[in-house]
Amino acid sequence: MSTAPHIPPGPASPSRREGARIKSPAVLLAESGADLEGHGLRRTMGLFQLVCFGVGAIVGTGIFVGLSDSVAEAGPAVVVSFVLAAVTCVFTAFSFAELGGAIPVSGSSYSFAYATLGERVAFLVGWCLLLEYGVSVSAVAVGWSQYVNQLLDSLVGLRLPDALSAGPADGGVINLPAVVVIAMAATLLVRGIRESAGATAAMAVLKIGILIAFCVIAFTAFQDGHLSPFASQGVAGVTAGASVAFFSYIGFDAITTAGEEVKNPRRNIPIAIMICLGLVTLLYCAVALGAIGALGPDAVSDKPAALSLLVDQVTGSAVGGGIIAFGAVVAIASVVLAVMYGQTRILMSMSRDGLVPRVFERVSPRTHTPVANTWIVAAVFAVPAAFASLGVVVNLTTIGTLATMAVVNIAVIALRRREPGLKRSFRVPLYPLSPVLGVGFCLYLMYGTGWTTWLQFLVFLAAGALLYAGYGRSRSRLVSPRTGPSEPSGEPEPSAPPAE
Ligand code: ALA
Repeated sequence: MSTAPHIPPGPASPSRREGARIKSPAVLLAESGADLEGHGLRRTMGLFQLVCFGVGAIVGTGIFVGLSDSVAEAGPAVVVSFVLAAVTCVFTAFSFAELGGAIPVSGSSYSFAYATLGERVAFLVGWCLLLEYGVSVSAVAVGWSQYVNQLLDSLVGLRLPDALSAGPADGGVINLPAVVVIAMAATLLVRGIRESAGATAAMAVLKIGILIAFCVIAFTAFQDGHLSPFASQGVAGVTAGASVAFFSYIGFDAITTAGEEVKNPRRNIPIAIMICLGLVTLLYCAVALGAIGALGPDAVSDKPAALSLLVDQVTGSAVGGGIIAFGAVVAIASVVLAVMYGQTRILMSMSRDGLVPRVFERVSPRTHTPVANTWIVAAVFAVPAAFASLGVVVNLTTIGTLATMAVVNIAVIALRRREPGLKRSFRVPLYPLSPVLGVGFCLYLMYGTGWTTWLQFLVFLAAGALLYAGYGRSRSRLVSPRTGPSEPSGEPEPSAPPAE
């Protein structure tokens, strides 16, 4: 049954397959200018910048703060937990790589779902991405605040008062550093991706260097006796550890949100995803082994700023711990930057499709960035950052992210069936085993988050479905395409950027 109005002929018409409302890859590419310059955004990112952007989005609170929680669950076998989480990501990364190489547009899994499974699923995926990107921005900013205090302590022996550095759930009033880091990220992002990518690259290189330095220091004190008993909490501990460790991988898919600002996206997006995942998995396993091998699992588990404390103990001085705290502050700030960037680009894609208000798609002709969109995202997610505690949002972020990843794996299968002839720069190996295993691993880790999280997630999904029914469905441009430039959109969208 279709209640859609008359569909006029035009460039959008091939995209409309009524019922599921699927938008074909050809239309997505044409709309975004994926093989040209896209929607006023500029193609400024090469492979190196893209890898730095990925590392920027991935390495942060999960390893600097969350490691102690996963060690508490799994003991020394946390290394296996990291590998389990990585395997989940690798299968999904293959799928992201195939889709990112075939449909290199902004919007990540949202756009992939639109091209394969239809508008309803795409809206819900976009809704879940609010958890992955928006809520995790808040969580990561809260983690940043802890390390700012640790750094101040190391540098000048001072800490911010609890009232100003923690939300009410953690015994404070407002978490000001968390708000500040979000405001700083928004300021960089509205200045333009060229500057933001430069800052992200510098931060990514620095934080990899800091983690390698940590490993070098930790391995000087390595004792293999600290690794036994290896799986002290059994298989259940390893599984729970994997669900916690998964948070430290969230963000690799942000690479696919940059589809319209990447040079040669069909080649660079798949390669960048694989390089990032391989690199961070090696780093995480080395950091976990080094930390536990140096002082034993009890010295790591459930300790705030564990990496700083470990270095202090191994070196017998506060200088090393201060340097690690500095690295954590930089690392976590770059995650906020990259994840906020991803959130704004997803909202831009959804706005372009009419599913959220048009203010989110406006690009400033001066900076070539979505200025209003960025400030709205910053303002909205500063609220939970200021008042929520870190632990509260992490599980919800994890289940939302895993749900979108399961959809991405399904989307690969759907696109192979629907568009077998589409140009693909990368193909998942062992098709269809790889995406099927990807779905299986995602469901396994989702199961591990527990029924309370499932309940919250289902309520969140129901709210998304209501929003789609009440707003997105009737305003979708797939059935009500925009009528032309007569509709005011604030700032004009240049079809090509002015020469610099
Ligand atoms: N993976 C990101 C982090 O660990 C979310 O901060």
